[in-house]
Amino acid sequence: MKLDTPKDLFLYEMSAMHDGEKKIAEMLTEVAGKVNDKALAEMLRTHKKETDQQIENLEKCFEHLGESPQRVPCATVDAIREEYREFVGMKPSEDVLTMFILGGAAKIEHFEIASYRGLVGKAMLMGDTQLIQSLETNLLQEEETAGKLERCAHELGQRMLARA
Ligand SMILES: [Fe+2]
Repeated sequence: MKLDTPKDLFLYEMSAMHDGEKKIAEMLTEVAGKVNDKALAEMLRTHKKETDQQIENLEKCFEHLGESPQRVPCATVDAIREEYREFVGMKPSEDVLTMFILGGAAKIEHFEIASYRGLVGKAMLMGDTQLIQSLETNLLQEEETAGKLERCAHELGQRMLARA
């Protein structure tokens, strides 16, 4: 793919996010079935639905620019997924796996927040209202989810410490 202009970079970064969001949607379904807390499982399933919408929002951005997503594997999401697989292989207890999944989800959300902030900034420089709106919708959902995960981690951590 051509990488000569700021718009090329914008398309490269959106392509990586598109790949990352698709992998995140798969992972959310998987980990929602592994956690031992109902409220957390519900939250992960809700964010899976939001993630499907985010993928559509990204596709709308590509369409708006008359482009389509390029093959750019999202290396950050790949690494977090690999870390998860290795951790599961070490056979942690249910409580520990649940806490680990919460931490992994928080890492992903913060990566996404930084990525969408970068993309919104570039869309602003391009002065493109439609791009700004779609990307800000995704950014807001990630910020809200990160906040919910942090509150959940705090509550679950306290409960698990009390049990230990
Ligand atoms: Fe997302």
